[in-house]
Amino acid sequence: MLSLRYFGDPILRKRAKAIEKVDEETRQIVAEMAKVMKQQRGIGLAAPQVGLSIRLFISRIDKETNEGEIIPGELLVFINPRLSEPSIQEDVMKEGCLSIPGIREEVWRPEEITVEALDINGEPFKKRFSGLQARCIMHENDHLNGALFIDRITIRARTRIEQPLRAIKKKYK
Ligand code: NI
Repeated sequence: MLSLRYFGDPILRKRAKAIEKVDEETRQIVAEMAKVMKQQRGIGLAAPQVGLSIRLFISRIDKETNEGEIIPGELLVFINPRLSEPSIQEDVMKEGCLSIPGIREEVWRPEEITVEALDINGEPFKKRFSGLQARCIMHENDHLNGALFIDRITIRARTRIEQPLRAIKKKYK
């Protein structure tokens, strides 16, 4: 079972490598990552967060009906993603990260983004996303470039979480 990496682990700051061939091993990794994401109740997970420095992330956002019923979302898989055409319109929301437990801060991001990537079968696709799904994609894509959401918050917020960040580093060392 793949295990989660936490803030302070150098792999989270590395630029991940492209996947050369989408094969059975890739699908195994995706299946394992989906398990970890579900267990941790996340809506997105990038490979570096489970110790694999490769350009792959997944996302699943469940929907809740007006009656409070949870409809499981589709598992989206992005391999060697390329993001483009961010909307001018931005939007702010509190983000968290499975690798930085307990911390949530406001992050501004474009409302919409276009992604070109390979799917789980190695087939290329291009799609435009908006809202929470777009935000999640941009957050996960940052992980592939060694960036974290705490790099995108105000200096004031960053100062405020300095202590908790140090505590996470220490705890998971
Ligand atoms: Ni994250």
